[in-house]
Amino acid sequence: MATIKDVAAKVGVSVATVSNALNGKPNVGTAVRRKVLRAAKALGYRPHRAAQAMRTGRTRAIGLVLPDLTNPFFPQLAQTVENKARKLGLLVCLIDSQDSAAGEADGLTLLAQHGVDGIIWCPVGPRIPRPIHTLGRPVVLIDRPRPGFAVVHSNNLMGGQLLARYALRQGHRRVGLLSGPRSVESAQQRRNGFVSAHPERIEIAWEVRMGFDGILPPEACAALLDRRGATLLVAGNDLIAINALRFLTQHDVQVPDDVSIVGFDDISWARIVSPRLTTIAQPLVAIGTRAVELLEERLSGAAIASRATVFDVTLVERESVKSI
Ligand code: RIB
Repeated sequence: MATIKDVAAKVGVSVATVSNALNGKPNVGTAVRRKVLRAAKALGYRPHRAAQAMRTGRTRAIGLVLPDLTNPFFPQLAQTVENKARKLGLLVCLIDSQDSAAGEADGLTLLAQHGVDGIIWCPVGPRIPRPIHTLGRPVVLIDRPRPGFAVVHSNNLMGGQLLARYALRQGHRRVGLLSGPRSVESAQQRRNGFVSAHPERIEIAWEVRMGFDGILPPEACAALLDRRGATLLVAGNDLIAINALRFLTQHDVQVPDDVSIVGFDDISWARIVSPRLTTIAQPLVAIGTRAVELLEERLSGAAIASRATVFDVTLVERESVKSI
């Protein structure tokens, strides 16, 4: 593999000049920079990151900490982060915190040991784990805000409101809520957006809370079998909606003929199940891209502190809701 010395010899300049040219330093003339870049490409030179880290203290690696990789939402989000990071020459080190504070702390500690330059993090719970403070590196939150941190997430309240207006348009007046966990802001925002949009026209027949992993607790199964007049089920995310759909089908309840259902996220499975799921789409490419851009800005010295970037969401109408 070509080294920086090979590039310097080919162009006839010093190793320092090659390094400055490749790192965009201002003290290199345009002509020399162009020659260096051409020579590096011709030789197939790639900087040795470990050697570079010894010199600069930067690994050009970032950590990405997500709660649950078995939920398609997070791998889809991870893909957008990795694609953007790689375009910037950044290596992504992925941690699955297994939806637990212990898993999250272990993963953050490992990232600190490997000297990542910064972290993009979707918190599991309300507490800020100690490694976040001892890491001493920039952190950008994704999906779930915390005071004092820059964050990128969807407008979950808007998503709840869109679903309420859609429910009314489809003629649904009595609704059952299969809401996500109280401890997660996105779950709270979605159900609050729905409940507060048209309280005088939509009656909440019942509400059951559960995890975003979609596993239905006994009270959810009971509510699905005795829906108490609810004609529409509003799930906190697509995994909950898909598990409810499967449970109803297993108990000979037809969706949407007997009851309609909507989700949130627009994971790839929403288009595979039958009937295909009506849901709220989150702009994952925009979210992941923006999170990397924010972290890169911070790594380049900009002050990003508690800047929040909130993206609109969109309703995706498919076949799981009947007009009544
Ligand atoms: O499915 C996991 C949930 O956590 C998603 O709905 C996403 O919005 C995050 O809040």
